[in-house]
Parts: sequence; structure tokens; C-alpha cells
Amino acid sequence: MEKLSFADYYQKKKAYFESHLAASFPRVPNPVAILEESMRYSLLAGGKRLRPLLLLTTIECTGKNADFAMPLACAIEYIHTYSLIHDDLPCMDDDELRRGQPTNHIKFGEDIALLAGDALLTHCFALMSTTALLEHTSAGNILKAIHILAESAGVFGMVSGQVADIQRQYVQQSSEEALSFIHAHKTGALITAAVQIGSLLAEVTERDFSELSGFGAEIGKCFQIQDDILDVTGVKERLGKSPGTDQKNETLTYPLVFGLEKSKQLASQCYENALRHLDNTGINTIRLQELANFVLKRDH
Ligand code: IPE
Ligand code: IPE
Ligand code: MG
Ligand code: MG
Ligand code: MG
Repeated sequence: MEKLSFADYYQKKKAYFESHLAASFPRVPNPVAILEESMRYSLLAGGKRLRPLLLLTTIECTGKNADFAMPLACAIEYIHTYSLIHDDLPCMDDDELRRGQPTNHIKFGEDIALLAGDALLTHCFALMSTTALLEHTSAGNILKAIHILAESAGVFGMVSGQVADIQRQYVQQSSEEALSFIHAHKTGALITAAVQIGSLLAEVTERDFSELSGFGAEIGKCFQIQDDILDVTGVKERLGKSPGTDQKNETLTYPLVFGLEKSKQLASQCYENALRHLDNTGINTIRLQELANFVLKRDH
């Protein structure tokens, strides 16, 4: 069978994942229909779906069918979407455009946006602990996956990164060290978790797990450097969010500390490091290589 181009592969996988994401949506009791509307509004608004696709692709690289892992792939997109809703709030980045439409708080108000984020975060753990998963993997693996996601999204990952991002006056480090901490935590941790959960469910060797974790960390960093670059060079219609936010908020970014050209070089370096990690594994990583290339080259 002829191999699909990456562009076709990506579109096909994204559409397939999105059909499962829509089906995963919880039925919210009627009196609080506004909660359901607000959650759906952000979750089903599109987006690159990078984290779930990384999780599923990692499994497929080992030759296994990844369908059984859909609840976990959905769960990570729930957490990611919650993080976007909260990141956009006036007390955080104060943004008005996300995924090509008004941000959740602009549409529903800050109170509902905050609670929709809370509900998405919490429901993620309901999805991850769904008993149907036991037909395909061990309880031990499910526990480990939940642990990885909880750590990477919380105090050992994204939340700490977000705190350092908005209150870096409290970070007792040079700009370079602070940037490295912020990017690894606010963005790198969840992207790494996606690859790790895929690796865990595919039951790869310890060595492959470690190399794939390294791959996740490098593309996570590459992803956020590129996000910083696009905040300077990106086009609103393509990005689906407003460029210039980092400058407005005086956010510590790669272009601010290193300039645009050096930032692009550093992003390429992360990409090269990521590929080296893949080379060291014993699995067929071609689709992960292509996803890494997408992370580096993306314009949205
Ligand atoms: C945006 O993430 C937030 C960051 C971590 C930079 P994405 O760029 O993956 O957002 P969507 O999911 O495609 O909208
Ligand atoms: C946010 O980083 C990372 C998150 C954890 C949501 P940014 O603040 O740069 O993300 P965008 O640019 O708003 O998507
Ligand atoms: Mg932010
Ligand atoms: Mg932001
Ligand atoms: Mg940004």
C-alpha cells in the first residue's frame, strides 16, 4: 500500500481523533447547560490536536493499533484546552481570540470560563480511569498514565511553568535559565507526557521509553520557541490568536532574550536533538519524525 503523505496522514488522523473527541463529551445535567456549551465551545473549536496525535502515533510506531488509547488521547486534549481557557483570562494573558474565535471568557464571562476550565481538567481524570481501558491494558499501566499526566499538568509541570511565566520576578535565575524552566514546564511537560503515555501503553522497552521521553522534551521546547517566534512573525488569521501578546504582557520569550534569528537556530537544534533520540530507539519512528518537522515548520 502506498504511504500517505504527511499532510494527508495528519488530516486523516486529526479528523478521526476529533470524531472520538466529540463522542467523549460528557452529558451535563440540564440546569447547567451553559457549562456544557462553554466546554464544547473551546474543546471542539479546532486546534492542531498535537498532543493526542503524538500519543496515538507513538503507539502506532510500535506496530500496534492505537484505538484503545482514545480515552487517554481525549483526556490530554481536555487538559490542554482547559489550560488555554485559563491562559487567556484577564488575570493571565488577557487574550480575546483563540482557535479563531472569541476566547471563552469573552463569550461566556470569566466565571463560566474559569469553571469550564475546571470541569475540563477534572473530567480528564474520569476519562483516564474509564474501566473499558482494562480490556486492553493493565490497571498498573492506567495508574502510571494517570500519574504521568497529573504530574506533568500540575505542580511538577504546566502550572509551575505558568506561575514562572506570569511572575518571573520571583524566579531567582538568569533570563536564559528562567526561559528554560518556563518552556520545559508550561509546554514541554504536557507534550512529553503525551509521548510517555503512548510509550507506556505500547509497552516499549525501558531504553525506548527514555529515548522517547527525551524526544518529547526536545519537541516540547521546539514547540514553545516556535510559539514565541510566531507571536512576533505570525499572521492573526492563520494563527487563530492575536500576535503581539507576549510583547504586550512583557512575557519572557526566546525572541526577547536571543533575537529572532538565534531563536530559529535554537528551535532547529531542538528538532535535531529530537531526531537523534528517535534514531536511538528500536521502533519505526517515521511518523514521529514528520510530526517533529511539523512542530518546527508550522505557521500556526
Ligand atoms: C498553544 O498550544 C499553547 C501553547 C502551549 C503554546 P497549541 O498551539 O497546541 O494550541 P492549539 O491546540 O493548536 O489551539
Ligand atoms: C501558554 O503559553 C502555555 C499554556 C500552558 C497554555 P502561551 O501563553 O505562549 O500560549 P498562547 O500563545 O497564548 O497560545
Ligand atoms: Mg501564557
Ligand atoms: Mg497565552
Ligand atoms: Mg504564546
